[in-house]
Amino acid sequence: MGKKSSNPINSQMKKKAKASKNLTSTLFETREIKLKISPIVIISLLILLISIAIAWDKYRQQAFCQILTSDYKDKILWISVPDHKNTKDYVSLDNGAFVYRHIYMDGFEKEFNVKPIHFPIIDPDIADFLTRHNLRARILNNTEISQEYASSIFSTSETWAPIIEDTKFRVGNGTYVDDERVYVRWVNDIVKWGMFASRTLQPNELIGIFAGFITRQSDDVEYAWEFNYLADVLDDDGEIVRTCIDGKYMGNYLRFANHRDANHNGEEIYVIYDDLWYVLYIAQEEIKPHEQIFVDYGQGYWNNKQKYDFD
Ligand SMILES: *[C@@H]1O[C@H](CO)[C@@H](O)[C@H](O)[C@H]1NC(C)=O
Ligand SMILES: *[C@@H]1O[C@H](CO)[C@@H](O)[C@H](O)[C@H]1NC(C)=O
Repeated sequence: MGKKSSNPINSQMKKKAKASKNLTSTLFETREIKLKISPIVIISLLILLISIAIAWDKYRQQAFCQILTSDYKDKILWISVPDHKNTKDYVSLDNGAFVYRHIYMDGFEKEFNVKPIHFPIIDPDIADFLTRHNLRARILNNTEISQEYASSIFSTSETWAPIIEDTKFRVGNGTYVDDERVYVRWVNDIVKWGMFASRTLQPNELIGIFAGFITRQSDDVEYAWEFNYLADVLDDDGEIVRTCIDGKYMGNYLRFANHRDANHNGEEIYVIYDDLWYVLYIAQEEIKPHEQIFVDYGQGYWNNKQKYDFD
């Protein structure tokens, strides 16, 4: 940019300076003849105004480009959501990775009014019920659950327990560092936000532990995973307490992951740690940087909703 385009502006400015000198002398002269403003004065005023406007616009464009290019390298500035009436065209052209801002958890509060948490938090209201949940024993004791299925749950849980424990302890002692392996960005007006890989994720690599408030089910389960999976949470009287891990008001990146029927590159798994369920998202295949990560929400979620076809 720089030199070449700034020269014409400079010469334009000089011309303008000259023009205004001529103008003042013209004004002085016209005062003597009863302040009569001739059409020539009006025209030259207009020309002056137009040239100022053009020069200003050029200057602004130049400044704007400089700001963009210097910041472009790592964190991309928010530009604006294009007005796209034809979603089909828009999705096929979607290279939004370089258009839309990448939002990390430090921006959740400001952007989404969501409290960023890295590990699920138990609602004190149901904490007592959960200490008596006895999940492992109840799965073993449940004749409707096959032994194979039960042992596959336990062995998967064993695999992931050390990572869950490490995350829990680090969050607890304040040494947890978000490695920003994923980020959130705008997708389109229909699905709104989505979760994207920041770097390559290997098959079977952990995408994250779904963080949310483990609480009695509210009406809105838009961002919630069922907690009463295979065994219901029971209150003091043995009544079922519908419980979920709700990411609506607090959560991490995973609450933004969208659903896809087939070819979802991420998978959610339920694992037991500390005798409670945790929902983990795992890469099912290699996921490339800036690829959107999809999981399968399960049929229950869609019972009263319209699906968006990402394919
Ligand atoms: C296992 O099942 C039996 C029979 O349904 C029941 O009496 C017992 O309390 C159950 N044990 C646990 C740990 O749920
Ligand atoms: C915090 O917890 C992690 C995981 O258990 C541990 O490795 C680390 O040493 C702890 N740090 C402090 C300062 O306690």
